[in-house]
Amino acid sequence: VSGDISALDDIIRSLDPPLIVVTTAAGGERAGCLVGFHAQSSIDPRRYSVWLSKANHTYRVGLRSTHLAVQFLRSDQLALAELFGTQTGDEIDKFADLDVRDGPGGVPLLACCRNRFAGRLTALLDERGDHVCVAVEPETVFADVPFQPLRLSAAAHLQPGHGNEERNNPPTERAVGR
Ligand SMILES: Cc1cc2nc3c(=O)[nH]c(=O)nc-3n(C[C@H](O)[C@H](O)[C@H](O)COP(=O)(O)O)c2cc1C
Repeated sequence: VSGDISALDDIIRSLDPPLIVVTTAAGGERAGCLVGFHAQSSIDPRRYSVWLSKANHTYRVGLRSTHLAVQFLRSDQLALAELFGTQTGDEIDKFADLDVRDGPGGVPLLACCRNRFAGRLTALLDERGDHVCVAVEPETVFADVPFQPLRLSAAAHLQPGHGNEERNNPPTERAVGR
């Protein structure tokens, strides 16, 4: 089949990408969300990029933070995916009942995730879509391999805490009156 751009969604579904939880902190506020858009993005120097939705609390805190952490989920961690993917830090503290360690720059590390890294945020790329690319220079790594990743197919039924279409909310003050 060719011609219909929405067929790209079928290819992505077939790739079945692994899911991660991205965490960050700024000014004493912790944030984190479930992320399916992520990849290693340079070998030397090593870089890893994640794409954060402009609608998310995690993105807004990330704009003010120096560090980000990536925790790779195991196939038995659907509950964690549900907490970070369907709830929003605008309403609850997702970290309240979790074993959380302090990483570089105060970034919260989830102890239950045995494959993770934390690093310095090196660049943001906003190419005017609903997600922004955030590049990270890994500084500390914790690995317990091999492991079975939690994949998109196991979590596709989850309803995101913030939809990507919410990115213009709240509107600017002038726009409110229109
Ligand atoms: C399967 C799945 C994949 C997701 N992928 C991303 C992603 O790549 N980037 C992102 O910013 N949000 C992604 N989300 C949405 C956020 O995890 C979700 O809206 C979350 O509740 C936002 O929390 P926050 O407002 O506390 O940051 C995904 C959600 C689901 C269910």
